[in-house]
Amino acid sequence: MAKPRRGDTVELVIDDLAFGGEGVGRASGYVVFVRGGIPGDRVRVRITETRARFGRAVIESVDVPSPDRVAAPCAYFGRCGGCRLQHVAYPAQLALKEKQVRDCLERLGEVTGFELRPILPAPEPYGYRNKMEFTVVAAPGGARLGLHEADRYDVVLDIERCLLQSDTMNALLAEVREQARGLSVYDPDSGQGLLRFVTLREGRRTREAMVNFVAAAPDVETLGPVAERLRARVPETASVVLNVNSKKASVAVGTEEHGLVGGDSITERLGGLIFHVSASSFFQTNTVQAERLFGVVEAACELAGSETVVDLYSGTGAISLLLARRCRRVWGVEVAPAAVADAVRNAQANGIDNCTFLSGEVRHVLPELVRQGVSAEVVVADPPRAGFHPKALGALADLGPARIVYVSCNPSTLARDVGDLARRGYRLEWVQPVDMFPQTPHIEAVARLRRAA
Ligand SMILES: C[S@@+](CC[C@H](N)C(=O)[O-])C[C@H]1O[C@@H](n2cnc3c(N)ncnc32)[C@H](O)[C@@H]1O
Repeated sequence: MAKPRRGDTVELVIDDLAFGGEGVGRASGYVVFVRGGIPGDRVRVRITETRARFGRAVIESVDVPSPDRVAAPCAYFGRCGGCRLQHVAYPAQLALKEKQVRDCLERLGEVTGFELRPILPAPEPYGYRNKMEFTVVAAPGGARLGLHEADRYDVVLDIERCLLQSDTMNALLAEVREQARGLSVYDPDSGQGLLRFVTLREGRRTREAMVNFVAAAPDVETLGPVAERLRARVPETASVVLNVNSKKASVAVGTEEHGLVGGDSITERLGGLIFHVSASSFFQTNTVQAERLFGVVEAACELAGSETVVDLYSGTGAISLLLARRCRRVWGVEVAPAAVADAVRNAQANGIDNCTFLSGEVRHVLPELVRQGVSAEVVVADPPRAGFHPKALGALADLGPARIVYVSCNPSTLARDVGDLARRGYRLEWVQPVDMFPQTPHIEAVARLRRAA
């Protein structure tokens, strides 16, 4: 059979899951990505796109469902871009993620001979997120508050309840929607209007909730009373802030922050420590699994007490502060000034005085530390999805720690960087995937590397 054409209907068996959660099938050898297909499904699909080496298709009917197929509990599933794996039984989600970590390391990183440890499942496959970001758009009858449709950055679904967040956050979402009804909404075409995003955050152990309004102007007069009403209706509301983004870029990050109700941060407890988290700082979005992830990191560091540790991409200092109790000294490096300020405040709040947090990009700060003669037995690195910048990786090799503990939220860049470190004399010993994001295709893993003798 020839390569199918756009509009053709073909039958396929889905035999794999790609990154991003699309099913992968083959029509006479030609690779077809099928959204919503899962390994084991026999499906009838309509081809929507054809390229030289692969095509895309949508499901017309699932003729024989995979034994791992389950009914998705969320009303928005299939349209919402947030969760893509709700229709896959949780044990199968875990197995697929574990396989993707192995495939990436072996195929992209070309590393072998390491131990892949069984993925750590999440005890709460739903209701685990402590932070959600909702987009606000104008709609007939008032503001629409929700998440983007899958692959449609121009379409926002009005989400009344999200199963990934707690009941408190859903109550806050409902109240914010109610309050937002009378507010003006930013229009990206004209640049007029006020409200752009609403981010909700919650300390899962403290029950303190935060609402962050991202608006086009510092209109405290309008949003102040809204914030007061939110606090009156949802008593867990400990902080409401306004971040101003008056630029075209559609991002939920502001250039200035105004307090509306309560303080500028909420607190969370993790690993026996207390953390202040402000609106613009990174904090792990799954508190329960973050504690387990950090437990894996701590064990991987094998600290005896006398070591110097460098914590690259240190965020609000969670890893630095947890390790500070077990070593002589920690240097944290982080680009976001708000996160560095939180990390310093968190060290003080926990009575920890052996951590120094440096502000700046790793590719600039780490070479400077090396130039100053700083040495470290252990480096922990938890970069964003893009992984290491080549200059940052070069500086890491120059520092030459005995052990590197790499925490990754993207197996592809983990594989690339681990492959590079292997060529620079490091051996990948083991990898421990941790499921931080059930129902989504996102994968977190800790990799332990050791410098060859
Ligand atoms: C995945 S988070 C890890 C945070 C921290 N380890 C934790 O668990 O809370 C990545 C962090 O890297 C920071 N970051 C991103 N690019 C950076 C860069 N080039 N240099 C330093 N920090 C960076 C982000 O602001 C974010 O706080």
